[in-house]
Amino acid sequence: MRQLLVTSALPYANGPIHIGHLVEYLQTDIWVRFQKMAGNRCIYICADDTHGTAITIRANAEGRSEEDLIAEVSELHQKDFAEFGVEFDHYGSTNSEESREACHEIWKALREADMIVEQEIDQLFDTEKGVFLADRFVRGTCPNCGSKDQPGDNCDKCATTYTPADLIDPVSTLSGTTPEIRSARHLFVQIEKLHDFLDEWTQSGTLPSESANYLKNFFLNEPLRDWDISRPGPYFGFEIPDSLGNFWYVWYDAPIGYIGSTKQWCDANGESLDDWWKSDQTEVHHFIGKDIQYFHTLFWPAMLKTAGFSLPTKVHIHGFLTVDGEKMSKSRGTFVEAATYLKHLDPSYLRYYYATRLSSRVEDLDLNPEEFVSKINSDLVGKVVNLASRTAKFIKDNGLSTEYPDDGGLFESFANRGADIAAAYEAGDYSKAMRMIMELADQANPYVENNAPWELRKDESKAEELQNVCTVALNLFRTLAIYLAPVLPDLAAKAGELFGEELTSWDQSQSPLTGKILNPFKHMMQRVDPKAIEAMIEESKELSEAAAPAEAGNWDDSGDALATDPIAEEISIDDFFKTDLRVARIVEAKEVPEARKLVQLTLSLGGDETRNVFAGIKSAYELDELTGRLVVMVANLAPRKMKFGVSEGMIIASGPGGKEIFLLSPDDGAVPGQRVG
Ligand code: 2FM
Ligand code: ZN
Repeated sequence: MRQLLVTSALPYANGPIHIGHLVEYLQTDIWVRFQKMAGNRCIYICADDTHGTAITIRANAEGRSEEDLIAEVSELHQKDFAEFGVEFDHYGSTNSEESREACHEIWKALREADMIVEQEIDQLFDTEKGVFLADRFVRGTCPNCGSKDQPGDNCDKCATTYTPADLIDPVSTLSGTTPEIRSARHLFVQIEKLHDFLDEWTQSGTLPSESANYLKNFFLNEPLRDWDISRPGPYFGFEIPDSLGNFWYVWYDAPIGYIGSTKQWCDANGESLDDWWKSDQTEVHHFIGKDIQYFHTLFWPAMLKTAGFSLPTKVHIHGFLTVDGEKMSKSRGTFVEAATYLKHLDPSYLRYYYATRLSSRVEDLDLNPEEFVSKINSDLVGKVVNLASRTAKFIKDNGLSTEYPDDGGLFESFANRGADIAAAYEAGDYSKAMRMIMELADQANPYVENNAPWELRKDESKAEELQNVCTVALNLFRTLAIYLAPVLPDLAAKAGELFGEELTSWDQSQSPLTGKILNPFKHMMQRVDPKAIEAMIEESKELSEAAAPAEAGNWDDSGDALATDPIAEEISIDDFFKTDLRVARIVEAKEVPEARKLVQLTLSLGGDETRNVFAGIKSAYELDELTGRLVVMVANLAPRKMKFGVSEGMIIASGPGGKEIFLLSPDDGAVPGQRVG
């Protein structure tokens, strides 16, 4: 029996789980479930990745503490995972005492090995927000090729890497201001000291060959670059014990969270951490995406090696999800949150679909909606579940035959395929495993069709034959359900209910079940309705439209508006109160056919008080979006005679004009007639 510790990358605590994340968690969960069924001792450990600037920014924007935010997000993440059947043995947080202790232990080892140096570096500082800017919060012109609007760490156009301080005309995406360069002392890990070890380790078969080849380049000509792992406070994270005022950068403590979370599991289960993290008897398997391989294949092994922890036995690396051949997109509605998916579709569908798409290679995988529908409907419902639904009802009284009937070698060939399917799961080649399973299903269905149990049942003298045919079909179904169980635990549970036994071990696939009365057949899986996919995409679109402007880091606060239209001359408060601003409701909006820009509005101030106002907003609003909404109006403006009638006030809006006119409206709760001020 092998002992395995398995992890998925720790999701950031600043956002919800979406179907892109799920590629990895489902991939890992399938592997873990397979290992458990195969009889190995296996624990699946994960946690939320909670530290860093992005968390602080969101917490500040929402007016609450970081701790409050990460507690809520952790619950949401765990709920999503549970509903998708992702079953962790433990789900922790990097913001835990256990993680802090592990950070200290590894830090001490790095110091003792003389791996840490201090260097003064220039960093960009946002004076308005009072924070040093992480790379992704700075944009500017590439110092190499001159492309505009590039991120702080590397250029999308020419792929040069640089530091944010090298950018020409940098702008903080947090405030839209020009950040200033401030110098600060940072701590660095000199991973070059482990050059030879890392060179050898990365080529030792631990990584997929694509990744090993990619990493070769780093060892060729130049020394490995020192890794900056401190940030000056304020910073949401752990303070560095021998460098007070500085904090470990989030990427230092993120992978250490694997150890901290394992420690929590050990404490809860009377186990010793050393048996899992410092023992030759335990294999450590990380599942990650290709975007974070540098951290897991250079920095992380360097830390583990220095501090005497086990090195990963294998790092399983996957590509990115595309939808219909394109990057997931919020505006197209293909950036689907886990919770949105669950409102429309069965999680088993996605588990199976991803399984048919995942291999052991580092390649992107595409979710194609039509293929999604056809795979579920024809493979799972048509070929697998149908075997049981077409036969179980005919033997509900007599049960399975006491002796397994002659099936021409079908069951045996099913059982013999078990080792190959297991090997494909082990190798992470789920698409191959699914192909082999469906090939078996393709043999089972003709057996049922040729023997037509629905005909046999019409002839009482054929009762025994009927029982035998159903016994064969149901045993073939049972073996398929076992082979699919890592991917479809829900189906295995329902099949288990039918057969009156839990299907939890791979070995069960090797011998048929006989002489047993079955439980009543219950519905096992619904066909996918393509309309449900459309509805999910539609809802995702709406969600992203509603959330987009508020998302931290996504603000378009460039300062251009103010620069083109500076603030007016100072006035006194009395001057201000001369303007009587009121909440009003648009009760009617009408065309003014002769006017290009105007609409005619009837505004209600509550009761019978109404005003007629001509507003120049025709280019930006449809009439029916206006009716019923609340606006803010200048109520004491002298009436103005216009060509089309008298305008009795003005409504307030911002924007340069054209499509960009934005009416101001009060928050929920305001009522017409209320004074604004
Ligand atoms: O890329 C990410 O989403 C990180 N939060 C992953 C961290 S993995 C590990 F190192 F903790
Ligand atoms: Zn460039």
